[in-house]
Amino acid sequence: MKKILIIEDEEVMAATLDEYLMHSMHDIHIVQNGTDGIKAIEQIKPDAVLLDLNLPDMHGFEILKLLHKNHKHCAVIVITGQASMSAAVDAMKLGAHDFVPKPVSPERLRVSLQNALERVELQEIAQNFEKMSRKNFQGFIGKSPKMQAVYSLIENAAQSKASVFITGESGTGKELAARAVHELSSRANKPFEVLNCAAIPHNLLESEIFGHVRGAFTGATADREGAASRADGGTLFLDELGEMPIDLQAKLLRFIQSGSFMPVGDSRQRDVDVRFICATNRDPMNAVREGLLREDLYYRLNVVPVYLPPLRDRGAEDIKLLAQHFLEEISREEKKEFTSFSEEVLELFVHYRWSGNVRELENTIRCIVVLNKGETIELEMMNVLDQEAERRLEMLATDAQGAQVFADQFLPVSELDIKPLEVYERDIILAALSACNGNITKASRRLDINPATIHRKQKQWKERGIS
Ligand SMILES: Nc1ncnc2c1ncn2[C@@H]1O[C@H](COP(=O)(O)OP(=O)(O)OP(=O)(O)O)[C@@H](O)[C@H]1O
Ligand SMILES: [Mg+2]
Repeated sequence: MKKILIIEDEEVMAATLDEYLMHSMHDIHIVQNGTDGIKAIEQIKPDAVLLDLNLPDMHGFEILKLLHKNHKHCAVIVITGQASMSAAVDAMKLGAHDFVPKPVSPERLRVSLQNALERVELQEIAQNFEKMSRKNFQGFIGKSPKMQAVYSLIENAAQSKASVFITGESGTGKELAARAVHELSSRANKPFEVLNCAAIPHNLLESEIFGHVRGAFTGATADREGAASRADGGTLFLDELGEMPIDLQAKLLRFIQSGSFMPVGDSRQRDVDVRFICATNRDPMNAVREGLLREDLYYRLNVVPVYLPPLRDRGAEDIKLLAQHFLEEISREEKKEFTSFSEEVLELFVHYRWSGNVRELENTIRCIVVLNKGETIELEMMNVLDQEAERRLEMLATDAQGAQVFADQFLPVSELDIKPLEVYERDIILAALSACNGNITKASRRLDINPATIHRKQKQWKERGIS
């Protein structure tokens, strides 16, 4: 049953309209002036309004504007005297669905109402459908069901202040997701502060978050604000949370619980209003088990978990959409003519194992575009990918000690062969570095860790004399 509101000051007219609609099984409400009309619209939330334009207390246009702005899914039919046809036309421009001239014909009224109700219903269905299969969302490209789920999760999470915990492999768009939550929230016009826990040396991290006062430590020559106070009113994004030292995690937890903190070297508390988002490419439960992430902190922050699927799980269509998007964007940036991929190239893209996910796809396309000319990306231009694969093989084959030694080194066959885990870790990182010609960024990407982690490890090996 549909709810119909009649706003009509002439009682006889209102009664006639009511009578004409009697058999249509609608739930009919009648009010006599604009003020009551507006009240009724808010209360009843009618599916349709029959609106007389000449009301005693206001012009019907006022109501029409309100309906158009706040109640898009309400069908509006304007009832007008013959003399005011031009008003009827204006009413249509303001969003009325139809008009019925006085004297009202019952048939015309019923048909007009029926059509308007149906049209609104169809509009709603179309909008929901569009929402269900969005091709892009806040900088994300992709229409796979997995991404649709991510989009609506982000949209819903954005409305609240709840902490968001983003997980996903490297290059899957974790930072993009964090920004989207902020942008869609009521804090959008306040700061979005990013703190990358892996890129900042451990001893500076506390001061980066909480700030410090002059003289707090050597080199602290002036008071300095930290990310926590800069983010006041906005969002604090703690990237690579798993890399934060455990003692600092305790301080962070206290901050999250109380909303207040003390800058390094200060004894006065600062209160701020901050929304927390964090991200990690580790499995957080594993990090908790390994003692790298405090369990209480994890549960505190993991209010809304958002998991970004790896590219290989998003299906062929998403890979093609992303590839086309990057091709157009990069061609424009690089002033090249490329507009499409050959079928074979797309096929290769769809089956390639993108361990660096969207970022790797983007970088690969950039590399191909920069190094080539033409309109279509052809298979011959794809040796960038081949080179990567070759290099990975070379890493095994041409390692100074040969492939077999490499395998022996990593796979202990007897108890005596087993070395401390730290040593394997170092060997793997060094092997990866040599395979990437010493390029730390590249090696870290392939190892799915942060470049800063390699720098830190190198320092540790030196300190402990294991390099
Ligand atoms: N679905 C997507 N559509 C379009 N661009 C994307 C998408 N996902 C990621 N990107 C782009 O890929 C790059 C990597 O994304 P982002 O930095 O958000 O990943 P990340 O998960 O934070 O990676 P890391 O773990 O390495 O820090 C960015 O340039 C981002 O704009
Ligand atoms: Mg990131």
